[in-house]
Formats: sequence, C-alpha cells, structure tokens
Amino acid sequence: MDNLADAFLKLDRKEIALLKAIERGMRHCEWVPAEDLMAKTRLSPKAVIGGLSKLLAKKLVFKTKEPYEGYAIGFAAYDLIALSDLVDRDVVLSLGDLLGVGKESVVLEALGRASSPPAAEMDAAEGAEEVADELPLAVKFHRQGETSFKQIRRVRDHLADLPRCAWIHAARLGAAKEFKTLKRLYPEVSVPRPVALSHHAVVMEHFGGTELYRVDLEEPEGWLEAILEEAAAAWRRGIVHADLSPYNVLVREDGEMAIIDWPQAVSRTHPRARELLERDMKNVVSHFQRKYRLDLELEEALAFVLGESDEGVKEDQKISREKKEDGRPS
Ligand SMILES: Nc1ncnc2c1ncn2[C@@H]1O[C@H](COP(=O)(O)OP(=O)(O)OP(=O)(O)O)[C@@H](O)[C@H]1O
Ligand SMILES: [Mg+2]
Repeated sequence: MDNLADAFLKLDRKEIALLKAIERGMRHCEWVPAEDLMAKTRLSPKAVIGGLSKLLAKKLVFKTKEPYEGYAIGFAAYDLIALSDLVDRDVVLSLGDLLGVGKESVVLEALGRASSPPAAEMDAAEGAEEVADELPLAVKFHRQGETSFKQIRRVRDHLADLPRCAWIHAARLGAAKEFKTLKRLYPEVSVPRPVALSHHAVVMEHFGGTELYRVDLEEPEGWLEAILEEAAAAWRRGIVHADLSPYNVLVREDGEMAIIDWPQAVSRTHPRARELLERDMKNVVSHFQRKYRLDLELEEALAFVLGESDEGVKEDQKISREKKEDGRPS
C-alpha cells in the first residue's frame, strides 16, 4: 500500500482495462475466464495474455486452474482500480502519505479538487475555485471482509472454491454506506466534507487534527459538550454513529472537531438505535470521566442528545412547513 502511487504509475492502460474487466467479472462470484476478458476489454488474445502475465508477476492478479482457468484480483488491485477512476475524474490529482490504518480501512492523504464546491464556497465569489482546486483530501479505501476471508483461507488449503467476490461486495457496500451518511450529515453535523465515491473508496476532506484518545485537552468540558452537540445534530438528521469512541473523533488546535468513520451508522428508526446511541454515549462519557475526572453521568448525556433533538425535530418540521408554504421544495 505504501507504493500505491508507484504501482499506479507503472500500470499501462491495457493493464488497467484488464483489472477493471476482472473486477466486473468477479461481481458474479467467479474466477474470470481469459476468454471473458478478451470479450470485455476488446483486447487481442495476445494483449490479454501479455497483460495478464505482467499483472501476475506484480501479484496484482491471481490465477487458478481448477475447476477452469480463471483470474481474480485482491485489494491491492482493487485500490488501483478506484484510484484510476478518481484520477480520470480529476478528483485526485496526487497522493500523499498514509494517514491511518484501521481495522477495516487504509486511509491516504491526497491533493485534489472537489467535483462540486458547496454552495457556501460558490457564494464566496472570487477565489472560490482556487479553494476547491487545492483541496487536501483523505482517501479511505474500505477493507470490510478482508480478515474474515483471510482466516477462512488459512484453514482451507485451496482457494478455488471460495467466493472471492464476497469481500468486494462488503467493501463496496461499506464505502457506499459511509459516503451516503456523510452526505446526509454534512454540513449540519461536523463531519469531513464528502467529495466522491469510487468502488470501495470514499474521498473526503482531509480534516487534519488528532484523534481524541491521543490528546490532552486543556478545557475538556467544552469539547465534551461539542461532541454531544454533534451527536444530537446527527440524531436530528436521523442517524446514530454506532461506533463512536475517542478513536473516531478528530480535534484540531483551532477549536474545530469532526466525527469520522461512519460505515456502520444506523437510522434512528433501527430497532437497536437507542441501544447503539447509549453505547456511543458511554464510550465518550467514560473517556472524559476516566481521563479528566468529569462527573457527567451517562443518563444526562443521553438526555441531552435526545432532548435537544426533540426540539430540533420540531424546528426541522417548522422549516419544512414554511418552505412548502412558500412553494419551495423542502
Ligand atoms: N477525513 C479525515 N481527515 C483526517 N484524517 C482522517 C480522515 N479520515 C480518517 N482519518 C485518519 O485515518 C484513521 C482511520 O480512519 P477511520 O477511523 O475512518 O477508519 P478505521 O479506523 O479503519 O475504522 P475502524 O474504526 O472500523 O477501525 C483515523 O483514525 C484518522 O487518523
Ligand atoms: Mg476509526
């Protein structure tokens, strides 16, 4: 992964076309036969065979001979497919350092341009475009399904009969869910601005800052209140994070904060929504109790998030009523 940019630069167009064709073929849970690749890429048999042997040597493609000769990709190639798409769409202009490796993702910094600057930036008249062009990004490549399938493979000594595509679906779904949630929450809730989605990769604003668990805050009360306010704002938008913890809150020296890592979020109509919200609040409150000796009780924090939000819902309904009366879409 360190060499994602290098690997990308060393790929030619034919190799990218082959990787994309294998990925499309794998959506149907198969090792993809070479003949399918010829049909799908419209490359000559010679070009397909040459391209595949280069990709096999780079370990970007795997081959099986049983039950028929077929090809498959892993996460390294999948990352390259998403990156190639993001570069083609002019979303990503260059890649930077590794920002984080989580249980279920690899996050890289990048420089890019936002496909659609938000209304506030558009209104800022001159200079708005330069701001969008210089946008520091975080590209999160989802990895859902990776560990579980590796474990299965470890105990099974041949790979051919395993549905290699399951991880593709899991990672793609995780990214799509995270992107949709960010779009639903931004900008009402402090989350990184969503920029683009490609395959299993979510592109968002690089927020900067440090994870809450790694900092020593000077005024912890204010930060705790800010986090609870964001949780309340998310609840008002109908969303529970469901993995909120000091690992998923970024705080910045300029006093701004953002809640990150939303693929497992649930709707507040989900049968377990209240239980998950309570668990989120517990993770946050117990961190502040333990590290800063703050004496806020879990029940108070929960009441704050739920209580505030009831007023918020009424406010949302009022706004939407007024818009309808005005004849504007809500
Ligand atoms: N928008 C962002 N701006 C700055 N840094 C980010 C951003 N998104 C992610 N990071 C960094 O990458 C790390 C991992 O990201 P994230 O928490 O979203 O995924 P994850 O940790 O893999 O998920 P999980 O919590 O399931 O393991 C974060 O802890 C943070 O350091
Ligand atoms: Mg995380």
